[in-house]
Amino acid sequence: MPTTTDSETAPESGAPATAPAIRFQDVEKRFGDNVVLKDLNFEVSKGDRVTLIGPSGSGKTTILRLVMTLEKATGGYIHINGEPLTHELRGGKRVERSEKAQKQIRKRIGMVFQQFNLFPNMTVLENIIEAPVHVLGQSKEQATRRAMELLESVGLPNKAKAHPLQLSGGQQQRVAIARALAMDPEILLLDEVTSALDPEIVGEVLAILRRIADTTDITMLIVTHEMQFARDVSNRVLMFDGGRIVEEATPDVMFTEPKHERTQAFLHAVLGGQEGQIGTH
Ligand SMILES: Nc1ncnc2c1ncn2[C@@H]1O[C@H](COP(=O)(O)OP(=O)(O)OP(=O)(O)O)[C@@H](O)[C@H]1O
Ligand SMILES: [Mg+2]
Repeated sequence: MPTTTDSETAPESGAPATAPAIRFQDVEKRFGDNVVLKDLNFEVSKGDRVTLIGPSGSGKTTILRLVMTLEKATGGYIHINGEPLTHELRGGKRVERSEKAQKQIRKRIGMVFQQFNLFPNMTVLENIIEAPVHVLGQSKEQATRRAMELLESVGLPNKAKAHPLQLSGGQQQRVAIARALAMDPEILLLDEVTSALDPEIVGEVLAILRRIADTTDITMLIVTHEMQFARDVSNRVLMFDGGRIVEEATPDVMFTEPKHERTQAFLHAVLGGQEGQIGTH
């Protein structure tokens, strides 16, 4: 006879198909005495493209790093597809999930960083197949075939044998995008992926991301200062300040008639001379 289970304690069986892709529930993150995120609650539905904006230090990267389990929340719960990520409520207590369980969920999440973070001692191809082979258990042949397709799709079919440092920043970032996609992620986290690039190559990286947004149903959580890109790609924008959401709106509303004074000041500063130039395509 099946025993009664609390959905909070039975993540595998209790996760409804309609669960949001990402759910932050009363999340707190502190570094020592510095409370960076406090009582943070938000949800990202499957297939959503959500852009996080806000001043430096407001906690945007920390949010992505928590989802990627590069950091652990000091309070509250993060659920991915209805499953607790690093901590769960069990018997009224907040307990850490096993490394195995965390790894299982992390497989579905990819992240692209501002500084590319490729393994410098590996070739481009080795960078891309590393996780599919070692984490997903794909054969080297299978992973290589997929990697070559992905390199083709990001316009770098001839760079498989190159080392990252032999590539330009834009090329490295395209490899990093291919590497993230090689895991067939359900959720893709993008942290200011064009901020370290020369202005003339920002467009080509954004074009690749636009195509991914247009041709897949990957849930995307995006931190960017490229407001036109945010407007084109995302369906929701969350404005952060001091680790809290101060405003949430569709891009159309956020970029044309922000309500909160902090959002107005932030957008004014970021858009500078480009104000009025953000429009729909
Ligand atoms: N590993 C860490 N140790 C201590 N403090 C940290 C650490 N990582 C982040 N912080 C602090 O957390 C706060 C939020 O940082 P975070 O990097 O999330 O901000 P951000 O919104 O991404 O800023 P930016 O726009 O500059 O990238 C900052 O006060 C930062 O100093
Ligand atoms: Mg950041």
